[in-house]
Amino acid sequence: MDLQDVYDSAIEVARIAGKMAYEAFHRDKVVETKESSCDLVTETDKQVENYIISTLKGKYPTHKFIGEESVASGDKCHLTDDPTWIIDPIDGTTNFVHRYPFVGVSIAHYINKKAAVGVVYNLVLDQMFAAKKGGGATMNGKPISVSLCKDLKSSVIIVEFGSTRDPEQLRKKVETMYNLAVNHAHGLRSVGSAALDMCNVACGSSEAYVEYGVHCWDIAAGAVIVEEAGGVVFSPQGGPFNIMKRGVLAASSSELAMQITPHVKHIDLQSD
Ligand code: IPD
Ligand code: CA
Repeated sequence: MDLQDVYDSAIEVARIAGKMAYEAFHRDKVVETKESSCDLVTETDKQVENYIISTLKGKYPTHKFIGEESVASGDKCHLTDDPTWIIDPIDGTTNFVHRYPFVGVSIAHYINKKAAVGVVYNLVLDQMFAAKKGGGATMNGKPISVSLCKDLKSSVIIVEFGSTRDPEQLRKKVETMYNLAVNHAHGLRSVGSAALDMCNVACGSSEAYVEYGVHCWDIAAGAVIVEEAGGVVFSPQGGPFNIMKRGVLAASSSELAMQITPHVKHIDLQSD
């Protein structure tokens, strides 16, 4: 398999998909809900996913596909050893609906359940984040790397409420935020796109990002980009990272990640 070809295709398709979505960004949208009243989807999410999957299927007919909107409409979400594209057509749909400019197209390619390529395109700010296993990470073609800061007390940490409105989960998320703030993190931020949260860690504009409740399509591409930028990715409790397990802790270093984990309230969720 020619990984360079997969990488080039992912970038090209992400850019065109981003342009399609950007055309709708300033317009009023038809909004539907999925798992909760705050889990949004628009007709653009579905159109963009159809474009991405049909284009990549045409080029790679034997590959498997996992896409957020295809899974929402009944497809299986099952990662095998086969070459698999994992797609979030619009990550940050709430941002997209409200015109908050952190909206990403996320496309990852996995082989033997391991990340090979990750591309995340911020379609409003025109920032293309990309990484190929062993090849480093870039933003608009220029190398990026994580922050050198390894101390919680000098870190900006991204935390998200996500789309759940389950009171117990929200209480635990608030407790995590409180714990990080009371332990003197420089700042807490919520960007509203898991894929772009990971890119923020990769390019050094935040030191870490932690969230329970994400799905594999939110974080599959970002994980490659963080690692190739010199960062680390764990479960929120500091164990091995698994994209199917609904949680992520991305950080600029293991030292920082291990200072964060004791403050994160565990949330038990069913895997993808
Ligand atoms: C969501 C975003 C959000 C994160 C949620 C995701 P969507 O994805 O990435 O930042 O907090 O967990 O579900 O619904 O915008 O594709
Ligand atoms: Ca998403």
